[in-house]
Amino acid sequence: MVKLGSMRNKFYVTTPIYYANAEPHIGSAYATLSADIIARYYRIVYGKENVLSLVGTDEHGQKIAEEAKKKGVEPKLYVDSLVPTFKDAWGSLNIDFDIFMRTTDPLHENEASEVIQKIFDKGNIYEGVYEGLYCVGCEKFLTEKDLVNGRCPLHPDKEPIYQKERNYFFKLKNFQNNLIELFESDKVAILPKYRKKEILNRIREGLEDISISREGVSWGIPVPWNKSHTIYVWVEALLNYYTATKTREDWGGFWPANLHIVGKDIIWFHTVIWCALLLAADIPLPKVVFGHGFLTLAGQKISKSLGNVITPKELIDKYGVDGTRYLMATAATFGEDRNIGDGEFDEKYQADLANGLGNLVARIEVLAEKIDYVADSEIPEINPKMAGAIERYELDKGLELIKSWITGLDKYLNQEKPWEKNASESKLILRTIIKGAEGIKSIKEIASSLRPYLPTTAEEILKRFSGEVKKGPILFPRLV
Ligand code: MSP
Repeated sequence: MVKLGSMRNKFYVTTPIYYANAEPHIGSAYATLSADIIARYYRIVYGKENVLSLVGTDEHGQKIAEEAKKKGVEPKLYVDSLVPTFKDAWGSLNIDFDIFMRTTDPLHENEASEVIQKIFDKGNIYEGVYEGLYCVGCEKFLTEKDLVNGRCPLHPDKEPIYQKERNYFFKLKNFQNNLIELFESDKVAILPKYRKKEILNRIREGLEDISISREGVSWGIPVPWNKSHTIYVWVEALLNYYTATKTREDWGGFWPANLHIVGKDIIWFHTVIWCALLLAADIPLPKVVFGHGFLTLAGQKISKSLGNVITPKELIDKYGVDGTRYLMATAATFGEDRNIGDGEFDEKYQADLANGLGNLVARIEVLAEKIDYVADSEIPEINPKMAGAIERYELDKGLELIKSWITGLDKYLNQEKPWEKNASESKLILRTIIKGAEGIKSIKEIASSLRPYLPTTAEEILKRFSGEVKKGPILFPRLV
């Protein structure tokens, strides 16, 4: 739980910036929705002005340049054409972000090259030759250990390319002990805990210096001291979390970030590489890096390259915005992989939303209307158990709690059968039920606690239960 006064009452949460080469699918949108839930929660607790949430697009590098070439357009025009797709997708999912950062934004380009210059000036960068395999899909060099059947396991459809070029190298090796200390002590916490273990084990196997520039890729930010190279796309992309806080003067105070949410495939970049770069540039370090798992369908990661994409729009058309947010937020234990079963979304929607929350609201409305109940307009606080779940980043658990409260209330109403009471006895009994912990009080607490997850539905329920209560339209229509 938030202990007021014991920590700084500001919260800065980030999502990965997506490659601007395809519209988001429910796997890639998963981090964005999770960050939105957390940001909305802290806006309620700390106040809107004390929360910063960042989303954005990763627009440079070989992958984007190749895609643009295939389409026969300049890379900048290509990414310009894709950015609205992301903004629309986030708008349709009701993602309330504060900054949409594009890495082609001149502010980002300038700030990122300043940081790289600083790292260079401090003697952490040297020139060398890189020779090895490169996966354009991941935009990263592959080691023998990364390969499965000679290919990148995340892009089995693409042959890794052999690369030999002059590059600038970052002295990652020098930071090995420092990183071990940081992660062991949780000064930078890696969550869930098992990912911290994995990262620490890998660091202990020994770090190698990494290439941080590309000579053969012109679509990028020029290396400030040698403009014939561009900064390696991952390095400048990571820097967006920092450069974004420079987009408005009063946002500077949000650094360091409280929470970076990322997929497990990019947690190495966000812990080892990211923290080493920040150390090298003398920039304060983030507090938590949370690596979530993959959503899979029929055992396969949802991804554009595997061709099994479900877009948020497809779900929204069927389940509505909040229905989709609910289904995505409960799709997995936050942090772990999860295979989405056939028909699972339909079943869950019907059980938890149409027959669960929606039906409970309708039942209480009917009962309240029967006795002309006028509710107060107070909005209760978020339930402490819910607050605890969100602050521990147990996002799916928060909704489990709601489900159990709904089941409890339903059970109570089924036992008491208040609708069977006759007119004379009913007023008093109904009044007690409706007013008390089994009625409006609980439904309002449920709605209040749901605000970070299902903002529109929560507001609607709170509105319906303030003032005169009347039966309103169905919240979650049954699927036909
Ligand atoms: N551009 C980089 C991130 C740079 S951040 C400084 C990138 N982009 S991405 O578009 O390929 O992936 C973005 C995120 O989507 C990653 O965190 C990745 O884990 C996540 N996901 C992509 N497919 C996913 C699933 N099927 N399930 C859950 N998350 C998945 O990497």
